[in-house]
Amino acid sequence: MPANLINREVITTLAARAAGLDQPEGNPRLKQVVGRLLADLMVAIDELDISMDEFWHGIAYLAQAGKQDEFGLIVPGVVLEHFLDLRLDEAERRAGLAGGTVRTIEGPLYIAGAPIAKGEARLDDGTDDGEVLFMEGQVRAISGEPIAGAVVDVWHANTLGNYSHFDASQAAFNLRRRIETDKDGRYRFRSIMPSGYACPPGSQTEKLLQALGRHGNRPAHVHFFVTAAGYRKLTTQINIDGDQYLHDDFAFGTRDELIPRVERITDAAEIHKVGLNKPFARIRFDFSVTKEVDGAPATIVAREHAEAA
Ligand code: BEZ
Ligand code: FE
Repeated sequence: MPANLINREVITTLAARAAGLDQPEGNPRLKQVVGRLLADLMVAIDELDISMDEFWHGIAYLAQAGKQDEFGLIVPGVVLEHFLDLRLDEAERRAGLAGGTVRTIEGPLYIAGAPIAKGEARLDDGTDDGEVLFMEGQVRAISGEPIAGAVVDVWHANTLGNYSHFDASQAAFNLRRRIETDKDGRYRFRSIMPSGYACPPGSQTEKLLQALGRHGNRPAHVHFFVTAAGYRKLTTQINIDGDQYLHDDFAFGTRDELIPRVERITDAAEIHKVGLNKPFARIRFDFSVTKEVDGAPATIVAREHAEAA
Protein backbone atom coordinates (compact mmCIF):
# COMPACT_ATOMS: atom_id res chain seq x y z
CA MET A 1 0.00 0.00 0.00
CA PRO A 2 1.21 3.56 -0.48
CA ALA A 3 2.04 5.72 2.54
CA ASN A 4 0.13 8.83 3.65
CA LEU A 5 -3.32 7.69 2.56
CA ILE A 6 -5.29 9.54 5.22
CA ASN A 7 -5.79 13.24 5.67
CA ARG A 8 -4.31 14.42 9.00
CA GLU A 9 -7.56 16.17 9.97
CA VAL A 10 -9.39 12.86 9.67
CA ILE A 11 -6.84 11.29 12.04
CA THR A 12 -7.13 14.12 14.56
CA THR A 13 -10.93 13.90 14.54
CA LEU A 14 -10.94 10.11 14.93
CA ALA A 15 -8.40 10.23 17.78
CA ALA A 16 -10.38 12.92 19.58
CA ARG A 17 -13.60 10.91 19.33
CA ALA A 18 -11.92 7.66 20.39
CA ALA A 19 -10.45 9.46 23.41
CA GLY A 20 -13.88 10.76 24.41
CA LEU A 21 -12.78 14.35 23.94
CA ASP A 22 -16.26 15.19 22.60
CA GLN A 23 -17.89 13.76 25.76
CA PRO A 24 -18.36 15.60 29.06
CA GLU A 25 -17.73 12.53 31.23
CA GLY A 26 -14.46 10.79 31.98
CA ASN A 27 -11.00 11.79 33.12
CA PRO A 28 -9.78 14.91 31.25
CA ARG A 29 -6.05 14.10 31.65
CA LEU A 30 -6.55 10.56 30.39
CA LYS A 31 -8.54 11.84 27.41
CA GLN A 32 -5.74 14.26 26.57
CA VAL A 33 -3.02 11.58 26.76
CA VAL A 34 -5.01 8.85 24.96
CA GLY A 35 -6.06 11.30 22.22
CA ARG A 36 -2.46 12.32 21.60
CA LEU A 37 -1.04 8.81 21.65
CA LEU A 38 -3.75 7.50 19.29
CA ALA A 39 -3.22 10.35 16.86
CA ASP A 40 0.57 9.85 16.89
CA LEU A 41 0.12 6.12 16.38
CA MET A 42 -2.24 6.56 13.45
CA VAL A 43 0.16 9.05 11.86
CA ALA A 44 3.01 6.54 12.29
CA ILE A 45 0.92 3.73 10.76
CA ASP A 46 0.03 5.92 7.81
CA GLU A 47 3.48 7.42 7.23
CA LEU A 48 5.35 4.14 7.63
CA ASP A 49 2.65 2.15 5.82
CA ILE A 50 2.49 -0.34 8.70
CA SER A 51 0.71 -3.37 7.22
CA MET A 52 -2.14 -5.21 8.91
CA ASP A 53 0.16 -8.19 9.41
CA GLU A 54 2.79 -5.99 11.09
CA PHE A 55 0.16 -4.30 13.23
CA TRP A 56 -1.37 -7.54 14.53
CA HIS A 57 2.07 -9.05 15.02
CA GLY A 58 2.88 -6.09 17.28
CA ILE A 59 -0.35 -6.53 19.23
CA ALA A 60 0.33 -10.25 19.71
CA TYR A 61 3.86 -9.41 20.88
CA LEU A 62 2.55 -6.95 23.48
CA ALA A 63 -0.19 -9.33 24.63
CA GLN A 64 2.40 -12.05 25.24
CA ALA A 65 4.72 -9.58 26.99
CA GLY A 66 1.81 -8.68 29.28
CA LYS A 67 1.09 -12.34 30.05
CA GLN A 68 4.77 -12.81 30.95
CA ASP A 69 4.80 -9.64 33.04
CA GLU A 70 7.65 -8.14 31.02
CA PHE A 71 6.73 -4.48 30.62
CA GLY A 72 9.06 -3.59 33.49
CA LEU A 73 11.89 -5.05 31.39
CA ILE A 74 10.85 -3.74 28.00
CA VAL A 75 10.44 -0.14 29.21
CA PRO A 76 14.12 0.29 30.26
CA GLY A 77 15.24 -1.79 27.28
CA VAL A 78 13.68 0.70 24.87
CA VAL A 79 15.25 3.63 26.82
CA LEU A 80 11.97 4.99 28.21
CA GLU A 81 12.90 4.61 31.90
CA HIS A 82 16.16 6.51 31.32
CA PHE A 83 14.25 9.13 29.34
CA LEU A 84 11.95 9.71 32.34
CA ASP A 85 15.12 10.27 34.43
CA LEU A 86 16.45 12.78 31.94
CA ARG A 87 13.16 14.70 32.13
CA LEU A 88 13.24 14.71 35.94
CA ASP A 89 16.88 15.88 35.91
CA GLU A 90 15.98 18.78 33.66
CA ALA A 91 12.81 19.66 35.61
CA GLU A 92 14.91 19.78 38.79
CA ARG A 93 17.52 21.94 37.10
CA ARG A 94 14.83 24.40 36.04
CA ALA A 95 13.40 24.38 39.58
CA GLY A 96 16.83 25.49 40.82
CA LEU A 97 17.68 22.14 42.41
CA ALA A 98 21.32 21.42 41.73
CA GLY A 99 23.88 18.99 43.07
CA GLY A 100 23.56 15.70 44.84
CA THR A 101 24.26 12.18 43.67
CA VAL A 102 22.85 11.63 40.20
CA ARG A 103 19.86 9.37 39.79
CA THR A 104 19.49 6.42 37.53
CA ILE A 105 16.78 3.89 36.75
CA GLU A 106 15.11 1.74 39.42
CA GLY A 107 14.53 -1.24 37.13
CA PRO A 108 11.86 -3.88 37.71
CA LEU A 109 13.49 -5.98 40.43
CA TYR A 110 12.90 -4.09 43.68
CA ILE A 111 11.00 -5.77 46.51
CA ALA A 112 9.74 -3.60 49.35
CA GLY A 113 10.12 -4.49 52.99
CA ALA A 114 13.69 -5.83 53.17
CA PRO A 115 15.01 -6.41 56.71
CA ILE A 116 16.21 -3.22 58.36
CA ALA A 117 19.53 -2.89 60.19
CA LYS A 118 21.24 -0.05 62.02
CA GLY A 119 24.54 1.20 60.62
CA GLU A 120 25.68 -2.00 58.99
CA ALA A 121 24.40 -5.26 57.57
CA ARG A 122 25.42 -8.42 55.80
CA LEU A 123 23.36 -8.81 52.63
CA ASP A 124 24.32 -12.30 51.48
CA ASP A 125 23.27 -15.48 53.25
CA GLY A 126 26.66 -17.17 52.81
CA THR A 127 25.54 -19.65 50.15
CA ASP A 128 27.16 -17.87 47.18
CA ASP A 129 30.93 -18.27 47.15
CA GLY A 130 31.50 -15.04 45.24
CA GLU A 131 34.12 -12.38 45.87
CA VAL A 132 33.38 -10.70 49.19
CA LEU A 133 32.44 -7.05 48.78
CA PHE A 134 32.44 -4.43 51.51
CA MET A 135 30.77 -1.18 50.61
CA GLU A 136 30.66 1.82 52.89
CA GLY A 137 30.14 5.53 52.93
CA GLN A 138 28.16 8.42 54.27
CA VAL A 139 24.81 9.98 53.45
CA ARG A 140 25.17 13.75 53.42
CA ALA A 141 23.18 16.83 52.54
CA ILE A 142 24.64 18.80 49.65
CA SER A 143 25.94 21.24 52.25
CA GLY A 144 28.18 18.38 53.42
CA GLU A 145 26.35 17.81 56.70
CA PRO A 146 26.03 14.06 57.53
CA ILE A 147 22.49 12.74 57.87
CA ALA A 148 21.90 10.34 60.75
CA GLY A 149 18.90 8.01 60.46
CA ALA A 150 18.78 8.10 56.64
CA VAL A 151 17.72 4.79 55.09
CA VAL A 152 19.88 3.15 52.43
CA ASP A 153 17.66 0.53 50.78
CA VAL A 154 20.06 -1.65 48.80
CA TRP A 155 19.47 -4.57 46.44
CA HIS A 156 21.59 -6.42 43.91
CA ALA A 157 22.00 -9.62 41.92
CA ASN A 158 24.03 -12.71 42.88
CA THR A 159 27.07 -14.03 41.02
CA LEU A 160 24.78 -15.43 38.31
CA GLY A 161 23.10 -12.06 37.79
CA ASN A 162 19.86 -13.21 39.45
CA TYR A 163 17.76 -11.42 42.07
CA SER A 164 16.14 -13.03 45.09
CA HIS A 165 12.34 -13.32 44.89
CA PHE A 166 12.51 -13.52 41.06
CA ASP A 167 14.96 -16.41 41.43
CA ALA A 168 13.26 -19.07 43.53
CA SER A 169 16.59 -20.71 44.39
CA GLN A 170 17.56 -17.79 46.65
CA ALA A 171 16.29 -17.19 50.18
CA ALA A 172 13.76 -14.41 50.75
CA PHE A 173 15.44 -10.98 50.76
CA ASN A 174 18.87 -12.41 49.97
CA LEU A 175 21.07 -9.48 48.82
CA ARG A 176 18.42 -6.97 49.93
CA ARG A 177 18.55 -4.83 53.07
CA ARG A 178 17.58 -1.46 54.45
CA ILE A 179 20.41 0.13 56.43
CA GLU A 180 19.79 3.08 58.69
CA THR A 181 22.78 5.42 58.84
CA ASP A 182 24.51 5.86 62.20
CA LYS A 183 25.00 9.11 64.12
CA ASP A 184 27.68 10.20 61.62
CA GLY A 185 25.50 9.42 58.62
CA ARG A 186 27.50 6.27 57.86
CA TYR A 187 26.36 2.98 56.33
CA ARG A 188 28.37 -0.16 55.70
CA PHE A 189 27.57 -3.57 54.31
CA ARG A 190 29.20 -6.87 53.54
CA SER A 191 27.95 -8.76 50.51
CA ILE A 192 29.21 -10.58 47.43
CA MET A 193 30.24 -8.99 44.17
CA PRO A 194 27.23 -9.09 41.83
CA SER A 195 27.30 -10.15 38.19
CA GLY A 196 25.41 -8.29 35.50
CA TYR A 197 21.79 -9.13 34.79
CA ALA A 198 20.82 -10.63 31.44
CA CYS A 199 17.29 -10.70 30.01
CA PRO A 200 15.77 -14.15 30.44
CA PRO A 201 16.52 -16.37 27.41
CA GLY A 202 13.43 -16.72 25.23
CA SER A 203 11.71 -13.75 26.88
CA GLN A 204 9.71 -11.29 24.82
CA THR A 205 12.27 -8.63 25.77
CA GLU A 206 15.16 -10.67 24.46
CA LYS A 207 13.25 -11.41 21.23
CA LEU A 208 12.70 -7.71 20.62
CA LEU A 209 16.31 -6.81 21.38
CA GLN A 210 17.62 -9.53 19.07
CA ALA A 211 15.32 -8.34 16.28
CA LEU A 212 16.75 -4.85 16.82
CA GLY A 213 20.30 -6.21 16.60
CA ARG A 214 20.93 -5.51 20.31
CA HIS A 215 21.87 -7.56 23.37
CA GLY A 216 20.01 -7.76 26.68
CA ASN A 217 22.87 -7.45 29.17
CA ARG A 218 23.51 -5.03 32.00
CA PRO A 219 26.86 -4.37 33.64
CA ALA A 220 27.17 -5.54 37.26
CA HIS A 221 25.57 -2.95 39.55
CA VAL A 222 24.11 -2.30 42.98
CA HIS A 223 20.80 -0.45 43.41
CA PHE A 224 19.88 2.09 46.07
CA PHE A 225 16.96 4.10 47.30
CA VAL A 226 18.24 6.70 49.76
CA THR A 227 15.61 8.39 51.91
CA ALA A 228 15.83 10.81 54.83
CA ALA A 229 13.21 12.98 56.49
CA GLY A 230 13.06 16.38 54.80
CA TYR A 231 15.17 15.26 51.81
CA ARG A 232 14.28 14.20 48.29
CA LYS A 233 14.28 10.47 47.68
CA LEU A 234 17.27 9.37 45.60
CA THR A 235 16.97 6.38 43.25
CA THR A 236 20.34 5.33 41.94
CA GLN A 237 22.85 2.54 41.29
CA ILE A 238 26.59 2.13 41.24
CA ASN A 239 28.21 0.16 38.44
CA ILE A 240 31.14 -2.16 38.91
CA ASP A 241 34.14 -0.77 37.07
CA GLY A 242 35.75 -3.11 34.54
CA ASP A 243 32.54 -4.89 33.54
CA GLN A 244 32.42 -5.58 29.80
CA TYR A 245 28.97 -3.94 29.56
CA LEU A 246 29.88 -0.90 31.68
CA HIS A 247 29.19 1.54 28.84
CA ASP A 248 26.87 -0.75 26.91
CA ASP A 249 23.97 -1.30 29.32
CA PHE A 250 20.86 -2.51 27.49
CA ALA A 251 18.81 -0.57 30.06
CA PHE A 252 20.76 2.73 29.67
CA GLY A 253 21.42 2.95 33.41
CA THR A 254 25.17 3.72 33.49
CA ARG A 255 26.20 7.26 34.39
CA ASP A 256 29.83 8.30 34.64
CA GLU A 257 29.40 9.69 38.17
CA LEU A 258 28.20 6.28 39.36
CA ILE A 259 31.33 4.23 38.69
CA PRO A 260 33.30 4.20 41.95
CA ARG A 261 36.77 2.75 42.28
CA VAL A 262 36.80 -0.91 43.29
CA GLU A 263 39.76 -1.60 45.59
CA ARG A 264 41.07 -5.17 45.67
CA ILE A 265 42.39 -5.84 49.15
CA THR A 266 45.13 -8.46 49.27
CA ASP A 267 47.05 -7.31 52.35
CA ALA A 268 46.98 -10.09 54.98
CA ALA A 269 46.55 -7.71 57.92
CA GLU A 270 43.58 -5.97 56.30
CA ILE A 271 42.03 -9.31 55.36
CA HIS A 272 42.43 -10.50 58.92
CA LYS A 273 40.95 -7.25 60.28
CA VAL A 274 37.63 -7.88 58.50
CA GLY A 275 37.52 -11.51 59.64
CA LEU A 276 38.26 -13.10 56.26
CA ASN A 277 40.91 -15.49 54.99
CA LYS A 278 40.85 -14.45 51.32
CA PRO A 279 41.20 -11.19 49.37
CA PHE A 280 38.11 -9.04 49.06
CA ALA A 281 36.80 -5.98 47.25
CA ARG A 282 36.00 -2.62 48.80
CA ILE A 283 33.96 0.27 47.44
CA ARG A 284 33.63 3.60 49.19
CA PHE A 285 30.72 5.69 48.00
CA ASP A 286 29.01 8.67 49.61
CA PHE A 287 25.47 9.70 48.77
CA SER A 288 24.52 13.34 48.63
CA VAL A 289 20.83 14.23 48.80
CA THR A 290 18.98 17.49 48.29
CA LYS A 291 16.46 19.10 50.65
CA GLU A 292 12.81 18.71 49.71
CA VAL A 293 11.38 21.90 48.25
CA ASP A 294 7.69 22.76 47.92
CA GLY A 295 6.52 22.56 44.34
CA ALA A 296 9.55 20.66 43.04
CA PRO A 297 8.78 17.64 40.83
CA ALA A 298 8.29 14.53 42.97
CA THR A 299 11.02 11.91 43.23
CA ILE A 300 8.75 9.44 45.00
CA VAL A 301 7.26 7.47 42.14
CA ALA A 302 3.97 5.57 42.43
CA ARG A 303 5.02 2.33 40.80
CA GLU A 304 3.78 -1.22 41.32
CA HIS A 305 6.34 -3.56 42.82
CA ALA A 306 6.29 -7.30 43.12
CA GLU A 307 5.28 -8.21 46.66
CA ALA A 308 7.35 -10.41 48.92
CA ALA A 309 5.47 -13.66 49.59
C1 BEZ B 1 18.18 -4.41 36.72
O1 BEZ B 1 18.28 -3.49 37.46
O2 BEZ B 1 18.80 -5.41 36.95
C2 BEZ B 1 17.35 -4.27 35.49
C3 BEZ B 1 17.03 -3.00 35.04
C4 BEZ B 1 16.26 -2.88 33.89
C5 BEZ B 1 15.84 -4.00 33.22
C6 BEZ B 1 16.17 -5.24 33.69
C7 BEZ B 1 16.94 -5.39 34.84
FE1 FE C 1 19.50 -4.46 38.80
